Amino acid sequence: MPPYRDLGAYDDRAGEYDHGWRGRLHHTISENTAALAAETVAAPLRVLDVGCGTGYLLRTLARQYPDAVELAGIDAAPNMIETARGIGGDHRLTFATGVAERLPYPDASIDLVVSSTSFDHWSDQLAGLRECARVLRAGGHLVLVDQFSRLLLPTLATSRRGKARTPHRADRLLLRAGFAQPRWHRVHAVIINAAVAAKAS
Ligand SMILES: C[S@@+](CC[C@H](N)C(=O)[O-])C[C@H]1O[C@@H](n2cnc3c(N)ncnc32)[C@H](O)[C@@H]1O
Repeated sequence: MPPYRDLGAYDDRAGEYDHGWRGRLHHTISENTAALAAETVAAPLRVLDVGCGTGYLLRTLARQYPDAVELAGIDAAPNMIETARGIGGDHRLTFATGVAERLPYPDASIDLVVSSTSFDHWSDQLAGLRECARVLRAGGHLVLVDQFSRLLLPTLATSRRGKARTPHRADRLLLRAGFAQPRWHRVHAVIINAAVAAKAS
């Protein structure tokens, strides 16, 4: 498996992650992601955020889903998880250090998986998506938000070779991972978009 990208940088930035213009940008994307999740799944009992960072999206979802019993976040950077736990906010929130490629949750145990601006960093995107499908119950949904645009095609020839940065590439990976045909939604500006897909039956 190739090395996990940028994890040291996220560990270093965790304490300041929610501040400044970058913090505001991630909050806006998270709020739009939560709105899309609400349109997708009305009342999930168990929610998982893969690459949850400091947990802003999960806390937004906790307010949005009062009947959810657990909202779990996992992130590869230990300092992100420590920061998320420090913010706390709701007893239904749980946070764990770990990677998308090996999710520490049982098969078919989750109703809704979300992930915001983390997918591009996953070391093995297909393995991560297969894990998302494995932990989802039949008919459960994935809301996958990241940089997905044909405008990013030039980056695939250079630093991001092998990454699914276009809807076409992401569609192929999602289908291989066990999801039904994704639907695409604009999330923020031109390049931050979401694939919404149900676990294939
Ligand atoms: C740009 S931040 C996004 C954090 C949060 N989702 C948000 O919207 O603010 C990317 C996050 O993905 C995490 N990450 C990178 N590779 C990962 C992997 N393979 N599995 C889980 N998390 C990963 C990083 O540690 C980092 O916290």
